[in-house]
Order: sequence, then C-alpha cells, then structure tokens
Amino acid sequence: MKFFVDTADVNEIRDLAETGLVDGVTTNPSLVAKSDRDFSEVVREICGIVDGPVSAEVTATQAAAMVEEARKLTRIAGNVAIKVPLTWEGLKACRALTQEGTMVNVTLCFSANQALLAAKAGATFISPFVGRLDDIGEDGMDLIRDIRTIYDNYDALNTQILTASIRSDEHVKQAALAGSDVATVPPAVLRGLSEHPLTDKGLKAFLADWEKTGQTIL
Ligand code: G3P
Repeated sequence: MKFFVDTADVNEIRDLAETGLVDGVTTNPSLVAKSDRDFSEVVREICGIVDGPVSAEVTATQAAAMVEEARKLTRIAGNVAIKVPLTWEGLKACRALTQEGTMVNVTLCFSANQALLAAKAGATFISPFVGRLDDIGEDGMDLIRDIRTIYDNYDALNTQILTASIRSDEHVKQAALAGSDVATVPPAVLRGLSEHPLTDKGLKAFLADWEKTGQTIL
C-alpha cells in the first residue's frame, strides 16, 4: 500500500519524506488555507520535495472552469494530480482531463456508486472519506471494502483506491486489510504507526544489557 501524506505543511512533508516512505501528498482547500501560503507556491514547493503524485484541488464548480484551473495547476509541475469533487461537473472535468493525460483524484467520495462513476470517468484515484462516514455513525471501512470488490469485478476499472479522511492507525491497518491502493495519512498518524510501548521497552532493555558488556561496535 502506498503512503501519501495528507497536509500542505512543507516542513512536515520534508521531514517525513526523508524516511523514503512517502509516495505522494494530498492537499485540499482547507489544508492549503491552514498553511497560510500562496496556493501555487506551496504546491510547487511540495512537488519539489516529493516525486510522487501531489494532489491540488480545483475550486471551480463547473466543468469548463475546473478544466481551466486544472490546466494552470498542472503547469506547476509534472507530478501534480488534479483533485475534483465527486459531482456531475467534477466527473465531466475528470473525463476531459484524463483524456488529456492528466492525473485526476476524485475526492469527497461517500458511496460505492460514486466510486463506480469516478472509475468510469477514468479517475486515477478515488478518495473515499472514511473518517467523515464514521462521524455520522457509519463504518467508513465498509465503503473501502465495497469499492475494492466492485473494482476487482471489472478489468476495465483501473482507478486506485486512495483511502482518505484517516484519523487513526486502525484506519491505516483496516485500509491495508481491505486492499486500498493508497492511504493518505495526516503527519501525526503516520509518525504514530512506528510506535509501540513494547518496542520502547524492549529497546531500553537491549541497550541496558549492552551497556553492561562494556563493548562498542565502532
Ligand atoms: O484528504 C481528505 C482529508 O484531508 C479530510 O480529512 O479529517 O477533515 O475528514 P478530515
């Protein structure tokens, strides 16, 4: 499963990218607003840090304007993926952009039928928001499992499932178990994946016992 970082904070992205474990980045208008940076500039900087797809979302609501915005955004860097919302206009824009060879990430997906339409529109990625489904008492991971089953039923559907709105390490695990192609993970959750109290305890014990030997490796 690929790991994308879900943030527009370039310092976080740079720090996490140094691990070599970051395969891409997703942003959205709320994350860009939170960064307090110029949109084009922050996208350009992120694209220089991470080689993989960097999602930048259009803000127009009509297909023609979405395509116009997308063409400006894709001129920023070759690894820009265009985010469009899962609306009829967004699907029309997705079709037009993918036919031009642009990577498209269809976002704000909350149903399997929406994901089916996005795949038929040629989307590179579909972003089901699992956390927001949990917020309304549903099990967001059920959607990932349904989309995986549907996509696997048809060879013609090549859209990658990009599990989004991830809030916990359990979401990451469940996304991987469900066969999600990508998980876009907030920085704090991504860092937390490496942590376990028994790891800390075991390492402390190893080093204490090593100290007693009086040896050094170098
Ligand atoms: O990538 C989508 C993500 O940023 C939304 O997360 O926690 O606002 O539902 P959240």
